[in-house]
Amino acid sequence: MTLIDGKATAASIRAELKVRSEEFEKKYGRKIGLAVVLVGQDPASQVYVRNKIKGCEEAGIRSFAHYLPETSSQEEVEELVSALAEDENVHGILVQLPLPRGLNADKILAKIPAAKDVDGFCAENIGKLALRERGTVACTPLGVMELLKRYHIPTAGKNAVVVGRSNIVGRPMALLLINADATVTVCHSRTENLKEECLRADILVAAIGKAKFITADMVKEGAVVIDVGMDRDENGKLCGDVDFQSVKDKASYLTPVPGGVGPMTIAMLLSNTCEAAERSMEKSL
Ligand code: GUN
Repeated sequence: MTLIDGKATAASIRAELKVRSEEFEKKYGRKIGLAVVLVGQDPASQVYVRNKIKGCEEAGIRSFAHYLPETSSQEEVEELVSALAEDENVHGILVQLPLPRGLNADKILAKIPAAKDVDGFCAENIGKLALRERGTVACTPLGVMELLKRYHIPTAGKNAVVVGRSNIVGRPMALLLINADATVTVCHSRTENLKEECLRADILVAAIGKAKFITADMVKEGAVVIDVGMDRDENGKLCGDVDFQSVKDKASYLTPVPGGVGPMTIAMLLSNTCEAAERSMEKSL
């Protein structure tokens, strides 16, 4: 089994992006900027946001962190996002999800213009992905595709099974795999015969959100297994949706948690930010 090293791959991508962001600065006389909005104190979100800001530093991207209290009103958050939408130093806006209960996330995300939607969440960007047009693609599924590419794992004609149908991962993941000529099956909580569906996968993407859900009996010998999960095991230790210990003897390629897809999500966010910045300048020329 080959362990897919997302940590090392993400580090090389950040180094590539540093060159790109320096070129941008030389050409346009200003830095590429990413605004990150965190509302409330969710511990996992705090870690993600900290890592995103750290990633910006390493890639030569200027970050604007906005920490709002849990008690912020809908209007306050919407006003901040609207101001960032107007700010020409901000090329990308990321509102960390989930938002505290009581806030309407859809209405807040709707304030992000498609050109600054570096998460690729808005209808315009999802629509472009579905239509195979150039747009911004959600960071986690994009990171998975980048890992497949950099490890020379072919997708054309392969059976790809995505477990999970979320807007953030499962759906865009399925679209990307279709666009890469895989034969795609999407499974979810209502799927009958989940085990049999998974056993057909040459490429299995686990995005369920349940610790160690995918066990060796659900994996075909030699399958490529990509673990998108960020869960806690019975001892509170970070783990993925895949039972690594049993699956490692069956898979041909496997991503660990941590150090697999997670760092790639951030690398793709930085990449999307560079692209949004470059596109905005090309447009204004
Ligand atoms: N929360 C978990 N994953 C993500 C992500 O990719 N983007 C944002 N904005 N919030 C998240």
